[in-house]
Amino acid sequence: MNNIKIPQHIAIIMDGNGRWAKKRGLPRSAGHIKGCQTFKQIARYCNKIGVKYLTVYAFSTENWRRPKEEVDALMNLFRDYLKDSKNFVKENIALRFLGSNDHLDPDILDLMQTAQDDSKNATGLTVYLAINYGGRDEIKNAVKQIANKVKSGEISPEEITEDTISEYLYAPGVPDPEMIIRPSGEYRLSNFLIWQGAYSEFWYSDILWPDFKPSHLDKAIEDFNNRNRRFGGV
Ligand code: IPE
Ligand code: IPE
Ligand code: MG
Repeated sequence: MNNIKIPQHIAIIMDGNGRWAKKRGLPRSAGHIKGCQTFKQIARYCNKIGVKYLTVYAFSTENWRRPKEEVDALMNLFRDYLKDSKNFVKENIALRFLGSNDHLDPDILDLMQTAQDDSKNATGLTVYLAINYGGRDEIKNAVKQIANKVKSGEISPEEITEDTISEYLYAPGVPDPEMIIRPSGEYRLSNFLIWQGAYSEFWYSDILWPDFKPSHLDKAIEDFNNRNRRFGGV
């Protein structure tokens, strides 16, 4: 991949785990386990090729609607992954989180905090794991915080800019993703990064997430390089 511009921030909707498992006559949880392995492989690959930020959608605010058995399996998978995340630190990858703490078990919140603290000095890729994340929920929380600042007289409504809203989102200071990837043949955002993705390039594919390989990411980046990003200009 000579002369290819690597996006500094790539976001991925890791979708298709359930269908991958179904095709093999396996329980949906088996698809999530394989999807987690894919995530680790793709994160390592992003680190290798020089991506600065990788945001992955792991659990949405809507995913609580799934059967309890599946939600529990996903939460156990997060636990296992977080306990094991020291391997990422060794590879200079930082781990952070996007989402609401509401409804997450206290031990998971502790593991998230530890994983974040352990990797705080890593200087390679920063992975943002979106767990219990919803774009509307994120904006609602930002609006609440800004409303409180207005109420206490710290800022006036006239001072609120787009940057003010960005500052109160879950990851202030992180550049917007240049690219949002969604495998599994679905063509929607499902409440992912609805503010930050205003000008992201979308890349869709029929590949199910557990089958997603670094070569697919290469293809996505190559296609991204051929996009003409106009940002409303000509
Ligand atoms: C994505 O895979 C993982 C999560 C949403 C947690 P799905 O579980 O949505 O897989 P499909 O879409 O049913 O195949
Ligand atoms: C989006 O996938 C959420 C994650 C990948 C975590 P879903 O499978 O939940 O999205 P919908 O329900 O098909 O829109
Ligand atoms: Mg899905």
